[in-house]
Formats: sequence, structure tokens, C-alpha cells
Amino acid sequence: MSKQAKLLDGKATAKLVRAEVAGRVAALVERGVRPGLRVVLVGDDPASEVYVRNKDRAATEAGIDVATIKLPATTSQEELLAEIERLNSDEAVHGILVQLPLPKGLAEQVIVNALDPDKDVDGLHPENVAALVQGRSGLVPCTPAGCIEILDRAGVELEGAHVVIVGRSQLVGKPLAQLALARNATVTICHSRTRDLDNMVGSGNVVVAAVGRARLIHGDWIRPGAVVLDVGINRGEDGKLVGDVDFASASEKASAITPVPGGIGPMTIAMLLSNTVLAAARQTGLQDVLDSATITVTS
Ligand code: GUN
Repeated sequence: MSKQAKLLDGKATAKLVRAEVAGRVAALVERGVRPGLRVVLVGDDPASEVYVRNKDRAATEAGIDVATIKLPATTSQEELLAEIERLNSDEAVHGILVQLPLPKGLAEQVIVNALDPDKDVDGLHPENVAALVQGRSGLVPCTPAGCIEILDRAGVELEGAHVVIVGRSQLVGKPLAQLALARNATVTICHSRTRDLDNMVGSGNVVVAAVGRARLIHGDWIRPGAVVLDVGINRGEDGKLVGDVDFASASEKASAITPVPGGIGPMTIAMLLSNTVLAAARQTGLQDVLDSATITVTS
């Protein structure tokens, strides 16, 4: 009988992170600063609506002053830029997240570039991207930050490990490669044009799947004992959520694996809250409050 992988429980880990964030929020509130987050949702993509609702609820529970700004799909670029300008100059707002993807006709990079980098809690502004590449402290994209956080809390050593990332997006693959490099991992980024993808994946001590193709990565590809993080959220034919990894077969080869749902998704939200609190502390000169309020919650 083959051994089953340990489940990396993102839901439980995210709960611990959110409890820590709530502690930091309380410390800032005591000093007269309530962290403020604004989530901008343009259009009516059903998946985005679910994500945004979850972010809003988690932020509220952590004590963050959060509001979702819903704009119609017909919003023009100028109107959206004007909204961002308004949020950039609102002192009660410390974090701004523009939910992606944006409807056609809106240039994502132009919108992201308009964000105040200090408020860019998604870490997508060129200034934050540069900070990540150069190893300076900026704001780091939430999903890759969540991947590192769950590995750290599970005691997975990255130094010297071969981390194979499948997917090269701005939001996940590219920033995760930088974070793993900063931990002295050896990093390979694979994508749709990669040759011998199965062998590439098979050489990973840690495999991160972030391509958006349901069950693309089969257990046969996984190196025995590897750690597998599944960032994918796809709808299966039966309407249920499935990841980019074939969970059942991969569980028989991996030493640890994240499920979908309940894996990286909740971690992304927890890191958004963490980034919002960090942004609020930096903007108000209260970083020292964060340091002294940070207690690590363990299960
Ligand atoms: N769409 C899917 N994931 C994300 C995310 O982390 N941030 C934003 N802004 N949009 C997303």
C-alpha cells in the first residue's frame, strides 16, 4: 500500500495567520489607526464576486475597515483612474486592491501603475515588483506570499531545494520564483511551451501548480516525497472546484500536498490582510507597534 501525503491545511493555517493579523490590527487601533482597505470590483464576473466577498468578510473579521467599491462593466478607463486617484489621496485608506481580471477595454497595467505603490496590497505596481527582484522590502503579491507562509509553517526547507513552478503569471509564477530564490532555492519556471513538462515536474522537491488547467499535473509526474502546492481553482465537469493537480494520484507520491478548495486560496486572503496591516503601519509610522504586537499563533 502506498503512503498518503500529509495534508497542508490552508484553511487552518490561514486562520492562525488571521488571528495574528487581528492582534496587530488591535495594536494599531489602540494607537488611533484603523487599517483601511478598499477592494475595487469592475463588472460582474461571478468568480471575482465570490473572491471579493470572501476578502471583504475576512477583513471585517480581522477588524480592518473594509469596503468593496463595485463599478459597472461599462466603466471607462478614465473613470476607473479617477476612482483610484480618489483612493490614493484618502488618508483613511491604506490598501487598495483592484480585482483582476478587468473587463475588456480596461488596460490592467495602466490601472495598476496608477496605484500609490505604498497602498498596492497586491504587490503588482512596478515599484513593488522591482523591490521584490532587488530584495528590498515592498509589498509582496498575496498568493506567492501565502505559498511561502504555508511552507514555512509546515517546516518545509527551501534552501537548496529545487522548486518547480508551473505557470509564469505576474500574480503568482514570477513573484513566487523571486521569493523562492531569496530563500536560496533553485527555481525552474515552466509554462505552456515547456518541453518534457512531466520530467521537469518530476525533478522538483517542491512543485507549485499555477496554470489554470484542471488536473493537468498527474501523480505519475511527481517525485516521491515532493511537496505539492496547488494554486489552481478550476470548475470540473460536475461543477465542483478542482485544482491544477490530480489530487488523488499526487497524494500517493507527494509527502505533503495542499487541497483545492481549502489550500492556497485561504492563504491568499490571509496575506492580503497581513499586507493591509503592514501598509497601514508604514503609512502612519507605526511599524514598531507591529513588531511588538506580533505574536505567533500556533495550533
Ligand atoms: N484575481 C485572482 N487572484 C487575484 C489576486 O490575488 N489579486 C487580484 N487583484 N485579483 C486577483
